Amino acid sequence: MKVGIIGCGAIGSVIVKATREEKFAEVVALFDKNIEKARRLAKGEFGEFIAESFEEFIGIEMDVVVEAASQQAVKLYAERVLEKANLMIMSVGALVDSELLERIERAAEKYGRKVYLPSGAVAGLDALKSVKSAEEVVLTTRKNPISLKGAPFFEIEGINPDEISEETLLFEGSARQAVKLFPQNVNVAAAVSLAGIGFDKTRVRIIADPELKTNIHEVRARGAFGEIVATTNNVPSPQNPKTSYLAALSAVRTLKNIGQRIVIGT
Ligand SMILES: NC(=O)c1ccc[n+]([C@@H]2O[C@H](COP(=O)([O-])OP(=O)(O)OC[C@H]3O[C@@H](n4cnc5c(N)ncnc54)[C@H](O)[C@@H]3O)[C@@H](O)[C@H]2O)c1
Repeated sequence: MKVGIIGCGAIGSVIVKATREEKFAEVVALFDKNIEKARRLAKGEFGEFIAESFEEFIGIEMDVVVEAASQQAVKLYAERVLEKANLMIMSVGALVDSELLERIERAAEKYGRKVYLPSGAVAGLDALKSVKSAEEVVLTTRKNPISLKGAPFFEIEGINPDEISEETLLFEGSARQAVKLFPQNVNVAAAVSLAGIGFDKTRVRIIADPELKTNIHEVRARGAFGEIVATTNNVPSPQNPKTSYLAALSAVRTLKNIGQRIVIGT
């Protein structure tokens, strides 16, 4: 399996290292808007092609392209990629934009491609996507207020994140509202919404806790099937503290699944 990577940061680097060590796929091309990042990752001996532009990148023959860059990259490149290869999207939050999601679906259908959205930093999507009929899905995210800094919520509500001294429920509402007020939570809220009952019906609670060193996501769903409770306690990735290490591992696993005869899990 020939793989191309857009975005040579925390997630891209883990994927490249895993393919070199475990040889389940061959990374043939790297593209990053900061070409130095691609150069640092390629380091000669493995011979990955370093593309200077997207045009150069997409000219390489690839089976799967992994977007591990940004929401902007999904907007700019997803449809172009699908003309040539299957696509794995890490910046799942971009798909809050339902028009973009529709365009991507149409391009995948037109060119006979697949689009993979890994579970990323959250557990429980396997069960959630089996029970589309859930009556209620609640995602509760607990983070240190430092990790939430810069969110538009604080300015709108006139709250200073530095002054939060104890566990505080900041927000409760739909996933659609949550991703606008807390863009830092967008990938997890989007993945849970897409796997389950959508952005408007999925409820999100954001809790700030100054004692926390990890990011905790709890998915709770109820319905005729019973109840699902899945909690993930995430350590940050060493290269980018905003990204949970599990997200990179999930990307690697999704790539491995593509090439495997026996695929475990739903
Ligand atoms: N699905 C999940 O659960 C999950 C979890 C963590 C991160 N993410 C998302 O995955 C993406 C990558 O995360 P990361 O931690 O590796 O980020 P990172 O900042 O470490 O690396 C991203 C790299 O992509 C490059 N890049 C950004 N926009 C680009 C563009 N338009 N064209 C080409 N290159 C571009 C940057 O220069 C950077 O080197 C982010 O969008 C992040 O939000 C998803």
